[in-house]
Amino acid sequence: MQGDLFPKIPATALPDGFLVKPGFLPPNRQITLLAEVLRVIAEAPLAQARTPMGGLTAAAMSNCGTVGWWSDRKGYRYQAQCPGTGRPWPKMPEAFLAVVRDAVADTPWPAFVPDACLINYYAPGAKMGLHQDKDERDFSQPIVTVCLGDDADFLIGGAARRDPTRAIVVRSGDVLIMGGDSRMRFHGIRKIYPGTSALAGVDGRFSLTFRKAL
Ligand code: CO
Repeated sequence: MQGDLFPKIPATALPDGFLVKPGFLPPNRQITLLAEVLRVIAEAPLAQARTPMGGLTAAAMSNCGTVGWWSDRKGYRYQAQCPGTGRPWPKMPEAFLAVVRDAVADTPWPAFVPDACLINYYAPGAKMGLHQDKDERDFSQPIVTVCLGDDADFLIGGAARRDPTRAIVVRSGDVLIMGGDSRMRFHGIRKIYPGTSALAGVDGRFSLTFRKAL
């Protein structure tokens, strides 16, 4: 009868297509993913990219998969080579694919298979301005984000940059999915909370964003 006395009401109603899975990854799975992240960035080192406006991306980036997202003065794009090494991006680790498979199993996109994983590393103090992910070919495919390391304020906005945003605190092991009506929402990282990582060995925050780019 407890259910009647304390009906389950979602703490916050999220927009359609924006799914948050707090604590989706248990600590042992986070440790496995972190080890794979470290392997990827040993092969394709993290680097800030030049933006078309001439600045630098706030986060340091690497990728794995068939293609990786990169930026320079000529614009934003997916490309097959790591610009730092000139070699193909590292293969997507099986552990990454397995996490994505599990995360989308009960969503409207159960068949989603990423061909690119952009790894963003936020040092304490780094943030990322509001933006849309729009360099992928098929916007019917979601974007799946895995958080590792420090807590952060993730901002979710609307279809226009000026639309109001809401901050949700994301923690290590959380998974976020933006699909359907939320696929093109503006989003960003407002703040990293240094020293809050529940996962040992991370100073700052990694986000793994899985995309179907091609
Ligand atoms: Co994004």
